[in-house]
Amino acid sequence: MISKKYHRTCSITLLLLVFLLAGNVSAQQMVNGITIPDVLTMNNGTKVTTAKQWKTQRRPELIKFFKKEMYGQSPGKPADMTFKVFDNESKALNGKATRKQITVYFNGKEDGPQMDILLYIPNNIKHAPAIVGLNFDGNQSVNLDPAIKMSTSWFDKTKGVVNNRATEATRGIDAGQWPLAMIIDKGYAVATVYRGDIDPDFDDGFKNGVQALYPELQNRGDNFATVAAWAWGLSRILDYLETDKAIDAKRVAVFGFSRLGKAALWAGATDERFPLVISNESGAGGAKLFHYTSGERITRICSKFPHWFCGNFKKYMGLDSILPFDQHMMISLIAPRPVYVASAKDDTNSNPEAEFWGAKGADPVYRLLGTNGLPATTWPALNTPSVGRIAYHVRPGGHNVTDYDWIQYLNFADKYLKK
Ligand code: GCU
Repeated sequence: MISKKYHRTCSITLLLLVFLLAGNVSAQQMVNGITIPDVLTMNNGTKVTTAKQWKTQRRPELIKFFKKEMYGQSPGKPADMTFKVFDNESKALNGKATRKQITVYFNGKEDGPQMDILLYIPNNIKHAPAIVGLNFDGNQSVNLDPAIKMSTSWFDKTKGVVNNRATEATRGIDAGQWPLAMIIDKGYAVATVYRGDIDPDFDDGFKNGVQALYPELQNRGDNFATVAAWAWGLSRILDYLETDKAIDAKRVAVFGFSRLGKAALWAGATDERFPLVISNESGAGGAKLFHYTSGERITRICSKFPHWFCGNFKKYMGLDSILPFDQHMMISLIAPRPVYVASAKDDTNSNPEAEFWGAKGADPVYRLLGTNGLPATTWPALNTPSVGRIAYHVRPGGHNVTDYDWIQYLNFADKYLKK
């Protein structure tokens, strides 16, 4: 009896604490019968009714919240960063594209932290729009092109990796997820970087990634964590593209799959230079609403991947259904810029339906800003994209990036990025 009563008291205290943390007791939004905190109510209870209020008050309040409680703080553009183009081949991909490879020295030192950008630019387009995204398995994994530099960074144990280093056996292993010829034929350049160049994907106490350059952003509740570091790396790719005359840096979409989709959304949310954002099966910490408790929850993500989000986020473990915030608020930071959220039916860890409602939850902000938001009002049928300023589709199959996905993304980009 005593322990039951104790348990109840604890739960109620916790609940109160969560609401107090948000300072937002009553304002709610309903999605599909589930109650989530209202994106258009300030923490002090004021309703947001104008675009100006959104831009000058609510958006900054939410950015501050997500930096403090979930993704952690990120540094700005490094003052000493330099670029070195070490490859420039105009007859790549059967003559369709120019291949460039560029090393980014984050602190300008050749023996300091660095990342390699692999860039393909369509030869028949001047000032091409581009799609940037991080890759899982090294630049050499995205295509069989033997001239792509073999990554020398740290790798998790997977096929073709020996002693945590990639071997020739990893060339082209992810080519199916990176249909370069299709993207180039559609008139887009593609830039990609291996995630591990920016921050190796394991809990190393932030010694091996770019965080080492920013000791002041470590050992604190809102520390510069891995997803934020990847997002920061995406912005650094854009910094380079801004210096490359072959690219129209005002038309660079940011793309990501899964954990790298979480990073793409956060990059789009925080860096307004990206005019379009694509999230492919980003799941928990991406487009999935935590209030939908099936699929990956906060406890699992923080236990299995303790380095992805900042220390403060761990206090929300077990509180998914009563959180004072949710991911529709993060997606709405992208508004009114176009965002595409996509799911796969069998990707239950990401919870496709919860990804849809995460996107739909951002709709009131897009509407407030005078756009058409996400047209669908119920979770769409398979292979039936709903395309407004927010777009969504769910396709059959599992966790992957397929040609079907890319065809939708490229059409979406055509709609908003083509002149
Ligand atoms: C795990 C993790 C997901 C993540 C995925 C991926 O499944 O639970 O959150 O999105 O890895 O990156 O492939």
